[in-house]
Amino acid sequence: MKKFFIKTWGCQMNEYDTSIISNLLNKENNFLLVYSEKEADILILNTCSIRKKAQEKVFDQLGRWKKLKCENPKIVIAVGGCVATQEGKKMYQRANYIDIIFGPLTLHKLPFMLQQIKKKKIIIDTKSKKIDKFDYIIPQDKKKITKIISIMEGCNKFCSFCIVPYTRGREIHRFYKDILKEIIIAAEHGAKEVILLGQNVNSYVYREKENTVTFAKLLFLISEIKKIHRIRFITSHPIDFTEDIIEVYKYNKKLVNFLHLPVQSGSNRILKLMKRKYTIQQYKEIIQKILLVRKDMQFSSDFIVGFPGETQKDFEKTIQLIEEINFDMSYSFLYSPRPGTPAIKLEDNISIQEKKKRLQSLQNIINQQTLKWSQKMLNTTTMVLVEGPSKKDPIKLSGKTENNRIVNFSGFYNMIGKIIPVKITKISHYQLEGTPIFRQFIY
Ligand code: SAH
Ligand code: SF4
Ligand code: F3S
Repeated sequence: MKKFFIKTWGCQMNEYDTSIISNLLNKENNFLLVYSEKEADILILNTCSIRKKAQEKVFDQLGRWKKLKCENPKIVIAVGGCVATQEGKKMYQRANYIDIIFGPLTLHKLPFMLQQIKKKKIIIDTKSKKIDKFDYIIPQDKKKITKIISIMEGCNKFCSFCIVPYTRGREIHRFYKDILKEIIIAAEHGAKEVILLGQNVNSYVYREKENTVTFAKLLFLISEIKKIHRIRFITSHPIDFTEDIIEVYKYNKKLVNFLHLPVQSGSNRILKLMKRKYTIQQYKEIIQKILLVRKDMQFSSDFIVGFPGETQKDFEKTIQLIEEINFDMSYSFLYSPRPGTPAIKLEDNISIQEKKKRLQSLQNIINQQTLKWSQKMLNTTTMVLVEGPSKKDPIKLSGKTENNRIVNFSGFYNMIGKIIPVKITKISHYQLEGTPIFRQFIY
């Protein structure tokens, strides 16, 4: 039996793709997944190009694998993900020991490519107009408490800084019945929570003859699955955050009280340069409307610091917004110029020292806010979805609160997979400690 090793960088979409690849090779084609590069006959790299640093890592890694291939020329090296789609043939020109270059939309063809490579020197197949990779998903028979499921792929927004529309292609939305079927199977196997994945989940729409399934409708249909108790989604875009989605927050308690809604900057001038298509006023309106129907909502966001032309004043507006919304957490990055994106042409005259200083101060403020949100939870009882033994201390159990905090506590193994009330007794930033309350019901 041939053995494969797979290394993944990038977002959750890439993690998700890796799980499809692993299942496909494991089950259908009888390859064995191994966790050491040295044992493998096939080395697969699932790459990310969102920032320059992520992309640079790729050739360093390939260089290390080249050495393994020199020792054993039978090793097959396959590169997928966003760098592979973006660079295509150029990757092979730079590293001619690569055997296969595939992309996020062609990954289901990997078993076939692995067969063909015996006859060919290089296979490059990264593009596809169809989204048929989901037809190759093998239903999971493993127990998963949280089901991660992709509902759409690609992006039509073309923010001026972002490479994703060029690497993942235009939006393609999955057939809603396939999504529901996969979730129902997962629920039968013990899933209690779903995370809907996509670059812009809230632009989801599936049109049948007389039926249009919007994102709001999809949320409703999923919430009808009895055994599913929590619904999360990443990532949504402010311009598609329509009233009907806000309405779901009002009535549907299965939607968690935590929303990740990337804003990127607090300055309208910068948002315009970023081509984000909304203003800060519009963003704040969405938040206010959600808070009106759900008082206990917490928000997180993405920020890009040091976008070309960002003045100290623009940056201060971002800080102001962070304090005003009281974001609970964020993913914040220094702007990284990406080839082929419009922002690369913008004049960028801020020094890297200044950018780093701004990023640090933004992160300090968010960290303080995170801590304050956690402090509010001290001595309160919160519902925790128990996931398994704690990574920090395997004698303890670990689970997640609705607002995305990890809670470690002493409990019993039969609590795994259940949602139980836990009193929070100690806090740090994200990690909390607690004691289960046995009096109350468990479901
Ligand atoms: N579709 C999502 C984001 C996907 S990319 C959205 O629109 O919100 C994830 C994050 O990476 C972005 O939110 C952005 O903050 C960051 N990012 C994307 N391109 C970047 C670049 N060129 N430099 C720095 N950060 C970038
Ligand atoms: Fe990139 Fe913008 Fe699309 Fe998000 S919405 S993936 S930031 S182009
Ligand atoms: Fe990276 Fe591609 Fe995801 S660029 S962040 S792996 S969509």
